[in-house]
Amino acid sequence: MSQATPVSIPYQSLNFAYKLGLINEHWQPRVIAEMNDYQFKLVKLQGDFIWHDHQHTDETFIVLEGQLRIDFADGQVTLNQGEMFVVPKGVKHKPYAEQEVKLLLIEPKGVRNTGDEDGERTAANDVWV
Ligand code: NI
Repeated sequence: MSQATPVSIPYQSLNFAYKLGLINEHWQPRVIAEMNDYQFKLVKLQGDFIWHDHQHTDETFIVLEGQLRIDFADGQVTLNQGEMFVVPKGVKHKPYAEQEVKLLLIEPKGVRNTGDEDGERTAANDVWV
């Protein structure tokens, strides 16, 4: 056995379905874990987002349930359950979900969901569930 760790760790798995059940609003990402400077966030989307980009980071979308379309200036990608896509930094994109979709997002701490744009879709950061 290895040495005891100096920090006490709760040996408990994170269950996506359980955590998603605690989220009632659309477009409000909730942090469930951090890894170094990155955060894992769950979010439920339905409808249209706004065009935006992230100048300093890529953004990872993983579909846990439902279907997500991401529009780009010159194309689009459709993600089904069990699929993921990495939007490169600086690339304009607009997520869209006809029906409710449940996502896992992976991105660095402090990234605004709407990039440099402001609006009703802009969500607070660092809200845990
Ligand atoms: Ni984005």
